[in-house]
Amino acid sequence: MNILVLGSGGREHAIAWKLSQSHNVEKIFIAPGNAGTALVGENISVSPTDFQAVRDIVISKKIDMVVVGPEQPLVDGVVDFFRNDDKLKNVRVIGPDKKGAQLEGSKAFAKDFMQRNGIPTASCFTVTSANIDEGIRHLETMNAPYVLKADGLAAGKGVLIIDDLQEAQNELRNMLSGKFGDASATVVIETFLKGIEVSMFVLTDGKHYVILPEAKDYKRICDGDKGLNTGGMGAVSPVPFVNADFTKKVRERIIEPTLKGLEKENITYKGFIFLGLMNVNGNPYVIEYNVRMGDPETESVMTRIDADFALMLEACADGCLDKVAYKTSPKTSVTVMMVSGGYPEHYEKGKIINGLNHLNNVFVAHAGTKFNQDGNIVTSGGRVIAVTAHGDSINEARDKAYNEIEKINFDGAAFRHDIGLDLINI
Ligand code: AMP
Ligand code: GLY
Repeated sequence: MNILVLGSGGREHAIAWKLSQSHNVEKIFIAPGNAGTALVGENISVSPTDFQAVRDIVISKKIDMVVVGPEQPLVDGVVDFFRNDDKLKNVRVIGPDKKGAQLEGSKAFAKDFMQRNGIPTASCFTVTSANIDEGIRHLETMNAPYVLKADGLAAGKGVLIIDDLQEAQNELRNMLSGKFGDASATVVIETFLKGIEVSMFVLTDGKHYVILPEAKDYKRICDGDKGLNTGGMGAVSPVPFVNADFTKKVRERIIEPTLKGLEKENITYKGFIFLGLMNVNGNPYVIEYNVRMGDPETESVMTRIDADFALMLEACADGCLDKVAYKTSPKTSVTVMMVSGGYPEHYEKGKIINGLNHLNNVFVAHAGTKFNQDGNIVTSGGRVIAVTAHGDSINEARDKAYNEIEKINFDGAAFRHDIGLDLINI
């Protein structure tokens, strides 16, 4: 089969790389891709949200399956676009329909969905400009810290966690008057949950499901989880506290009620569900749903899937995930992200990346990279390269990942040095 992967990050490189190992795949196209995806397939310079252009590729390249990497095309309704087009309706698309994508596209929708379906999550109160005074008073009834979430997509920046009541009330007003544009026209105020976070990933055909390897993401820019939030600076899989007991709770309290809820609400969901969970004293609570895989978690996760991923996705689209062979590797993977100097604030692009040819026994996923006019690989984004290594322990995988990432360099390159350290003696 021919596969089109939509997106351009480390996640899409990892997915395309995994798919490229399948004997059932003839050719992989990535739109728009990056310098790394060009090593496993053919890049096509088309935006994932330009559905007409995506349609043209699918027809001209005889694509059998489309894997949607980022959330925006799903929230914009790419699945419905395919289903409603005579020429595309038989093409497999991995992702939920537009209504299902609201689980990520609207925090208020996701919270209502969880409440309707009895799924454990922090209690919440939804505010718009119509009930702003109630929102302000509601904050007074809560204990610090205060969690304020923009309802819509805000490039991962729409969540504020604030210790001071007055500051929280001011930020609520700021958000409602456009701090995150239209995304914060509605704000969800949530109770703060204290615990350790973990990302769990489910692949579902709407009825059956497979739990992919879980991962822990490191979101802050600096060691010790300090500094600004980023898209993710590293990941580790597996996560030690995700044992059989915890996984059983996640299945019974979260995954199965979620799938039942989707069915009851007539949502067509053939794709990934990313559960952002908080482990509160051994009990899982949903912090957020995403309707795609995580980045850089995917780099850690894909390298631990010991199965033909193209066949898994095909079975997902065809509604027979229960029939597919699936195993995971017992190894631990550690992913370290190398970023541009200044990220997540201002950073420069176009820096030549050296050393990529000298790495051994690691998976190198490109994120913000491209070829310049001279054919050199240069930086083209904040997150640039993710190095994933494996070992029998977190320590062993960490040592390998750090050993190899030291061989890569570009002007201003930075990375965290503590990925996985907190999980070693847990
Ligand atoms: P989200 O975009 O919903 O994942 O939120 C971003 C980050 O804020 C999460 O990864 C958590 O670290 C934190 N967070 C969100 N909601 C809560 C909550 N209710 N309690 C504690 N931390 C939270
Ligand atoms: N690494 C977090 C995310 O992909 O949303």
